[in-house]
Amino acid sequence: MALIKKILSWLVLLIAVGGATALFYSEEAAKPGHLRETHEQSATCKTCHQPWKGVSDSACRQCHFFDNVSQLRPGIRFHEAEHLCLECHTEHRGRKGQISDMDHTLLNPDLICSQCHFDPHSGLFGPDCRECHGITTWNIEGFQHPSKERRQCQRCHKAPQSHQAAGFKKRIMQMHEKVFPGEDAIIIKDCWRCHITHDWRHLLMVHEAGT
Ligand code: HEC
Ligand code: HEC
Ligand code: HEC
Ligand code: HEC
Ligand code: HEC
Ligand code: HEC
Ligand code: HEC
Repeated sequence: MALIKKILSWLVLLIAVGGATALFYSEEAAKPGHLRETHEQSATCKTCHQPWKGVSDSACRQCHFFDNVSQLRPGIRFHEAEHLCLECHTEHRGRKGQISDMDHTLLNPDLICSQCHFDPHSGLFGPDCRECHGITTWNIEGFQHPSKERRQCQRCHKAPQSHQAAGFKKRIMQMHEKVFPGEDAIIIKDCWRCHITHDWRHLLMVHEAGT
């Protein structure tokens, strides 16, 4: 019995290896999906796939170098310290396919989130994004935006540069005399005077033109 089992398992192994080898040498049959067009033009199957070994990180490093950090755009500077390319990259997702995924758990923990991510809070909530955010989504479960009646917008929002320009307030109030009749005390901090809470571009002022 034991001998038969042994022979059987050897047979299974042989078929598996044989099948894999056949696949490797008949390229069309083995192709799992189109390469990204940049790689289709620059690499052959064998540049990345080594017989028996498959794809390794060193295959990528034949062509990609990240030693000269100052020449890299900020979003990819972290590559200087990365070697495990295949943890975040793959291939065969189509000519225009996305072959880069971020695995934050591999990053050097000294990297600060805001080195790579834009801070929509303009620094008002401090630099430690981790206090409130995880790494899979920016949404915070249970967060409900305060209602417009709370009027404390400036606690969490900073006005853009445009609002500090000389004459900004005056111009808007002149343009919208009917909305701010005789008022000259509007301060920019009072975002709620002009804005609603779900879209900064949707202003409260009724546009005279067309109405
Ligand atoms: C730019 C590098 C690159 C080139 C060129 C490339 N591949 Fe791949 N291939 C990969 C990567 C990366 C994977 C995913 C391997 C992994 O996750 O371990 C992969 C996976 C595969 C797989 C799935 C089995 C496996 O090893 O995981 C097959 C089959 C395959 N490639 C065949 C081909 C063929 C055929 C060609 C030529 C048309 C080709 N590849 C060209 C990088 C490449
Ligand atoms: C034969 C050379 C060669 C090999 C090997 C190679 N690449 Fe590329 N790769 C290129 C070229 C050329 C480009 C396009 C120009 C550029 O961005 O540098 C490119 C682009 C990329 C891009 C940017 C996406 C795009 O299409 O603009 C990523 C990501 C990438 N390669 C990852 C990898 C990974 C991961 C491996 C190893 C599995 C690998 N490459 C192997 C030559 C190669
Ligand atoms: C921790 C995850 C991670 C690791 C590890 C990693 N990469 Fe990347 N890589 C990314 C992400 C995400 C992007 C896309 C960044 C972007 O476009 O802002 C990227 C972009 C790239 C690009 C495109 C650069 C450009 O100019 O647009 C290349 C080439 C690349 N990686 C190759 C590699 C190689 C080679 C390795 C291994 C030495 C590697 N990566 C390791 C996540 C990683
Ligand atoms: C080395 C650059 C880098 C660092 C550092 C970094 N990230 Fe990312 N992060 C990325 C890239 C690239 C993506 C994928 C592309 C994207 O959606 O912006 C991503 C995606 C995310 C996403 C998912 C976004 C979405 O909508 O799917 C969250 C959430 C996130 N990061 C949070 C963080 C937090 C929190 C930190 C600090 C602990 C951090 N990241 C540090 C580069 C980085
Ligand atoms: C004091 C808590 C807090 C801190 C610290 C914080 N955030 Fe947020 N952030 C929030 C809340 C609350 C939301 C809204 C979440 C929601 O709608 O589910 C948010 C939303 C976001 C969004 C989504 C924005 C949008 O318009 O959809 C991004 C991106 C983001 N934060 C990035 C960052 C970054 C980058 C940092 C660090 C520099 C950071 N946050 C620090 C509380 C915080
Ligand atoms: C307790 C903090 C807090 C207060 C108070 C607050 N907000 Fe927000 N608001 C947030 C957070 C967090 C987000 C999501 C991140 C971002 O886009 O800045 C947000 C998003 C927004 C957005 C963008 C929505 C989008 O997706 O485009 C607008 C517009 C907005 N708030 C207006 C207001 C106005 C007007 C007030 C005052 C009536 C106000 N907020 C008060 C925290 C607050
Ligand atoms: C007197 C009216 C007024 C007040 C007060 C005001 N805004 Fe605005 N805001 C505007 C107008 C008008 C625009 C559109 C013109 C522009 O972009 O300069 C605008 C545009 C914006 C935009 C840009 C929208 C985009 O997508 O480009 C943001 C963000 C914004 N306001 C935030 C704020 C915040 C935060 C406050 C409070 C701290 C505030 N505003 C107070 C009138 C006002």
